[in-house]
Amino acid sequence: MEKFVIHGGNKLHGNINISGAKNAALPIIAASVFAGDVCRIENVPDISDVRMMIRILEFLGAEVAKPEPNVILVDVKNVTPVTIPDKMTSKLRASYYLLGALLSNFGKACVALPGGCYFGVRPIDQHIKAFEALGATVDVENAIVDVKADELYGSSIYLDVVSVGATINAMLAAVKAKGLTVIENAAREPHIVDLANFLNSMGADVRGAGTEVIKIRGVEEMHGCTYSIIPDQIEAGTYMVAAAAVGGDVTIDNVIPKHLESITNKIEDCGVTVIEYDESVRIISEGGKMKACRVKTSPHPGFPTDMQPQFAAMLCLCNGTSTVVEDVWDNRFKYIDQLRRMGANIIVNGDTALITGVDKLRAAPVEADDLRAGAAMVIAGLMADGETTVGNIKLIDRGYENLVEKLIGVGAEIARVNFEEE
Ligand code: EPZ
Repeated sequence: MEKFVIHGGNKLHGNINISGAKNAALPIIAASVFAGDVCRIENVPDISDVRMMIRILEFLGAEVAKPEPNVILVDVKNVTPVTIPDKMTSKLRASYYLLGALLSNFGKACVALPGGCYFGVRPIDQHIKAFEALGATVDVENAIVDVKADELYGSSIYLDVVSVGATINAMLAAVKAKGLTVIENAAREPHIVDLANFLNSMGADVRGAGTEVIKIRGVEEMHGCTYSIIPDQIEAGTYMVAAAAVGGDVTIDNVIPKHLESITNKIEDCGVTVIEYDESVRIISEGGKMKACRVKTSPHPGFPTDMQPQFAAMLCLCNGTSTVVEDVWDNRFKYIDQLRRMGANIIVNGDTALITGVDKLRAAPVEADDLRAGAAMVIAGLMADGETTVGNIKLIDRGYENLVEKLIGVGAEIARVNFEEE
């Protein structure tokens, strides 16, 4: 099986180019079923989650061509709402976006419950609430979600919890519903705005994305379009934190600085210099010892939960004791056991991790527990002197395009190595 082998301790210098946003690409590809003909989607990250979503579209009858790197042409003329089985949905949380898209476009959808990273319970009650508010019936039997409606009617949907997925599924279900839909307490992430812009490029009428109230007036017909996906906020944040933690002078290119504000703010709180340009951010850092800080995750525009493990890894060498509060997911500290194997001094109490800085992290064999936890282990390996191996890297490949090449490009010693099955 493949592992990353990292020889840490090098400071990083140079430029890293950011790919398209995973969490925008996934709903956008699902939403291409509305086109009726062909969509050209650009700046698509070449990562395994995207390849899996494309396979699901092809399973439904779409034809997907890749005329050039990071560009796909999705022809949905022959798409039909056949049942999507567990073997396809179990690998990908975002598979459930097909519920909203197929329900909206065909009046029915049958999708096995999704998989994805395990952070404790990941309910879909708010998705179901949205579908039912629009007039659909929802049955969940044998882990298959079966939604149907003769007609969908615009309605008011108040989300009891700020949910990216439920906001997205409500948007997808509403774009062709008769009349006005108002989604309140909506998620405000950049990928919500990107999806709204994509839907509007296909002729939808979605307003207010990026605020907590999204208004959608249903349309009868939609059409193909050409669309370019925004840069990945979390990929960019991951490399920002890596540069801050290890030290050096790294410019992260092809970003939207506004999407990174909460991450930039916390890195500056730790005493690291961040310089913003129009489409890039530059990190200048001594690495290692940095000011201890307090960080609490929350929906956008707060500090992203998907940056929590990476930031905790950086704080392992801080001066004093830092506090990390995970306020989005019930159980997103599993990776801390792996950091402890490298000498980190962390106490977890419920939703709070107390990180007392140590002088050094020890290189060690560690595993990726999930996508962002895996990224945190790469950062810890870059921080530690000696050889760290990171296993289970298929989980990292879900969301980071060309991670090894991008890090080697700024002076890291990292390689993808095939180890005989142990
Ligand atoms: C999306 O997951 C992302 N995944 C996650 O990123 C991210 O951690 C999360 O949003 C929060 O930003 C994708 O976009 C594919 P939620 P999602 O619904 O939509 C509760 C990554 O690393 N909730 O916003 O599943 C839920 O339990 C991945 O790229 C309900 O209670 O997250 C959680 O506590 C990991 N009922 C909170 O809302 C529901 O019906 C936020 O979850 C839905 C959610």
